[in-house]
Amino acid sequence: MNRRLITSALPYVNNIPHLGNLIQMLSGDVFARFCRSRGYDTLYICGTDEYGTATETKALEENKTPRELCDYYYGEHTKIYDWFHINFDKFGRTSNEECTEITQSLFKDLDEAGLIHEKTNRQLFCPHCNRFLADRYVNGICPKCGSSKARGDQCDDCGALLDPVELKEPKCATCGSTPEVRETKHLYIDLPALSKKLDEWMSKTSCEGRWADNAINITKAWIRDGLNERAITRDLKWGIPVPKTGYENKVFYVWFNAPIGYLSITKQLANELAKAGKQSFDWKSWWLPEESEEAKGKAPVDLFQFIGKDNIPFHTVIFPCTLLGSPHNWTKLYHMSSTEYMNYEDSKFSKSRGVGVFGTDAIETGIPADAWRFYIFYNRPEKQDFQFMWKDFQEKMNSELIGNLGNLVNRTLLFVNKYYDGKIPAAPVDEELWNEVKAREAKITELLEWAELKDAFREMFGIADICNKAFQAAEPWKTRTTAPEQAAKLIRNLCYVIKDLMIMMNPYMPQYTQKVMSYFGKSIEEKKVGTETKPGLNWSDLAKTDGLSEISATEVYFTPMDKKTMENFREKFSGNQKERKDAKKTEQKPKKAEKKAEEEVLPFDRQAAHFSNTIRLRVAKIIKVDRNPEAEKLYIEHLDDGTGTERVIQSGLVPYLKEEELLGKHIILADNLAPRKMRGIESRGMLLAADYTSADGKECVEVLTAPWAAPGTEVVLEGDPVPSSKPETISADDFFKVEVKVVDKTVQIGGKKLVADGKPLETQFTVNGDVH
Ligand code: 2FM
Ligand code: ZN
Repeated sequence: MNRRLITSALPYVNNIPHLGNLIQMLSGDVFARFCRSRGYDTLYICGTDEYGTATETKALEENKTPRELCDYYYGEHTKIYDWFHINFDKFGRTSNEECTEITQSLFKDLDEAGLIHEKTNRQLFCPHCNRFLADRYVNGICPKCGSSKARGDQCDDCGALLDPVELKEPKCATCGSTPEVRETKHLYIDLPALSKKLDEWMSKTSCEGRWADNAINITKAWIRDGLNERAITRDLKWGIPVPKTGYENKVFYVWFNAPIGYLSITKQLANELAKAGKQSFDWKSWWLPEESEEAKGKAPVDLFQFIGKDNIPFHTVIFPCTLLGSPHNWTKLYHMSSTEYMNYEDSKFSKSRGVGVFGTDAIETGIPADAWRFYIFYNRPEKQDFQFMWKDFQEKMNSELIGNLGNLVNRTLLFVNKYYDGKIPAAPVDEELWNEVKAREAKITELLEWAELKDAFREMFGIADICNKAFQAAEPWKTRTTAPEQAAKLIRNLCYVIKDLMIMMNPYMPQYTQKVMSYFGKSIEEKKVGTETKPGLNWSDLAKTDGLSEISATEVYFTPMDKKTMENFREKFSGNQKERKDAKKTEQKPKKAEKKAEEEVLPFDRQAAHFSNTIRLRVAKIIKVDRNPEAEKLYIEHLDDGTGTERVIQSGLVPYLKEEELLGKHIILADNLAPRKMRGIESRGMLLAADYTSADGKECVEVLTAPWAAPGTEVVLEGDPVPSSKPETISADDFFKVEVKVVDKTVQIGGKKLVADGKPLETQFTVNGDVH
């Protein structure tokens, strides 16, 4: 049996992971647990991906050093993975000395092999922010497909990897200015020179290692389209130093060193064990077996990698090229398990915008970790995207996890306790049942060997279903007295199938299955008894029909989720984190999130510039107010916006204001916001309103107004000229990059007042607060 080296994509450290990120760590965990149970020599490695622009920028925003930020989030990540019971052999970090050492040495290998070239390249420089812009910090139009959802590094629509200078109409993502092209020197890896080697390696490995289809397709397309040289250095501080004269102020590109993290974290583990005086190992026995004494006589290593679709080229093209360009025979990818996307309700999970259920949220719900694990694996997006829906979570949990599996376990064990005094009755093996179960078990094992985690899991529920039907058909509650041998035979055999199910499901639901086996007085986990380790039940115990005798009192483990709870969760975790806060107050904020970009609220000092460059506000008069019959909270407001054509917007103000409180008001309209359909009616813009709490503690909303200004008057920041050109349409994300605030009853952005006809906007009731 080959040894199994397992990795899951290293999560970025600068944020809390959401369920979409957790899939990778959980998948590696299920697979590693399966491999250990089957008896493979297994090593499961993961850790935080810490370097790069995103971390450096976030640290700046939070007024911390990058190291402090990483330390903090590393702690948060580990807490979450512990709660989910992810059993890494090591969850390390890329910001350690092992990573620096191996990255620099691989770089030197490539350089000596003549595969590193220096180029002076043209890069986007933001004169306003006074810095070179990292690829992801530029937005624009994709030169390949024309989508406006492109960032400097990648187009989210067509997936093309881009060079930021190729972007059409580039804009600094931080301040919205148009960047200029400047020259800077960087090191490039010569991928074209490695293309042939890569092609040969890929053609062979992708078949032998049965890569996921998406990985094969994407990799083939890359090779077919011709590889380009890729820059591996960056103008940054937070990263691994480049060991070359002239590069003292630059670091390696985060994606150059991130996959090296898999190696360096293995070494980190070995070093830590040695330091602690524990039995250690040679990290090279896994990653460079030909050069490790310790690997002599050991089986070869198969590397299984778990990643999301967006990481494919880095793992099947770029990183393998790094390894292929080195003179050493490194362990390279064997099986690629690359999932499609998991989306959230009607949107996408997004860390940057805070859309979805985050690790910390999951913990807070009180739903057990294994119920989350159940739902994730029941739906793992293996061949197509999957939509996380609270309603579906409720249904699947109640019908499959509880209604099918839980029901089988409970009714069988209760029956033993109630009618056989807790002793599993003696009876012959039910050949017919076992033939079916064994056939399915063989299929499950085969599926799991190739990490087909979802299909294997569903087969297990298929077995539970067969057993439930057998229970139902046999009516043991009757035969117990009319045909006791028959009842005993059913119950005994079901106990053993339950044991098999628990062994097979243990990788998916480690806590639940361990609990159920504890009722039988058994353990799946290894147990330390004195100095000895007692092995737990494992794959080799499948289909055994002896060894169980008694059952102790059982408890309910999963409680069904009722509709109201489900709806509460859906409401609570709807929209992004900012919207969650506002959810009760107003429905007017667009709740849309289609791209996986970096739209966050900008640092305070950059908000005013972003506003001036991108956002247009103007005064409009409300000439008519209707209710939207499809939505309790929505008003439809008809506006005179000074253009001569009536304009319609909607806002969720019904709970706060009466129609007459709106009619005739000169409100402030977000003018160039992309139109959005709300409950069947298009809303072309949105009005601004502030939140405040009344003296009696009620949440209130007041609409911002400029009664002195005529409809159409532009609202600008104090000191800014009134814009003359027609505004470009912007997304809600662009809009919410700034925070409009009420400060001492004046309305401000980035510390500057908003004015109409030179007069500052003021509030009536809100002294200090947020505007939405
Ligand atoms: O996309 C991501 O979240 C990256 N941090 C994944 C890195 S995987 C590896 F190569 F380190
Ligand atoms: Zn800028």
